[in-house]
Amino acid sequence: MPTIRTVQWKSGEVVLIDQRVLPGKEIYRKYKTVESLAKAIETMVVRGAPAIGVAAAFGVRLAAERSKAKDIEKLRKDILSAAGRLAETRPTAVNLFWALDRMRKTASSDFATAKNLVKAVAAQAQAIYEEDLSASRALSEHGANLIRQGARVLTHCNAGALATAGDYGTALGVLKAAHLQGKSITVYADETRPFLQGARLTAWELRKENIPAYLITDSMAGHLISRGDIDAIVVGADRIAANGDAANKIGTYTLSVLAKEHGIPFYIAAPLSTVDLNTPTGKEIPIEERHEGEVTHVHGKRLAPKGMRVRNPAFDVTPAANIAAIVTEAGIARAPYTESLRKLKEGK
Ligand code: MRU
Repeated sequence: MPTIRTVQWKSGEVVLIDQRVLPGKEIYRKYKTVESLAKAIETMVVRGAPAIGVAAAFGVRLAAERSKAKDIEKLRKDILSAAGRLAETRPTAVNLFWALDRMRKTASSDFATAKNLVKAVAAQAQAIYEEDLSASRALSEHGANLIRQGARVLTHCNAGALATAGDYGTALGVLKAAHLQGKSITVYADETRPFLQGARLTAWELRKENIPAYLITDSMAGHLISRGDIDAIVVGADRIAANGDAANKIGTYTLSVLAKEHGIPFYIAAPLSTVDLNTPTGKEIPIEERHEGEVTHVHGKRLAPKGMRVRNPAFDVTPAANIAAIVTEAGIARAPYTESLRKLKEGK
């Protein structure tokens, strides 16, 4: 499998592949301030729940390594203020808050010297990065067991290497692992309006991996499913509530209803860092509303008339009842999710 690194720490800087210009250009941008990295998350240079978490962890490392503070308490203050800024970037993906909580806990522990504190923060960010790579691989391999030989599988948005630290990804990782197992699968990738993560990013990864695939517009899914052309749907998630309700890219809920109507399995694939036991149900998941320009314009070109009002919710919530299984690195959870997710999260 070709190596894809979405977020990296290199020579004291955070390096991101610029997802706004893929697939046309493969550009790696370097960040050495927390503010510039926060803006990169806000403007989708990096996106995808686990990737945002890893980028934010490295952002806290930037603050620790570049702080001019002479004493440990001032250093801690710089680190916590960086975590505060990074937490404001995007509201729905819980991996961001999960990673920042880990970084805050490390920064709040006792250390004899400021140097030791910086070292611990650096090690924690590195651990989050490495755990993300190994979780993606493990969940992809578990999930591949749900995909049968010859299956035609629909996916939405980009839940591949580009949505994680790299390589497998989550939902697309499951399909990559099934392909590597030699199952001759065909992927149907939704283009995913308005930001086109499917058309630009998932299609780029599928071509790179040589996985047989078709790109479709979002509105074609119902027709193809009703004709029996799709055997299963697998998508990622930005936050999974304690009861199994799952927020993911706008349009995912619609697909889950189609899956139910036509009796095909609908799977979620996500690392346990996406499972948020502190959010009881999908109703409490904050849904990001993004800039109207994403809907009125394509690649900077205005399509809608000036003055037209726009709604742009970036995510929707799929009720647990529509989900056949949730694939994680610790195994596959089935309903009732309140019990199965808690068990997996608590390592039982
Ligand atoms: O707005 P985005 O591109 O950050 O949204 C990404 C998604 O909705 C993905 O499907 C989700 O983060 C899962 S990725 C492993």
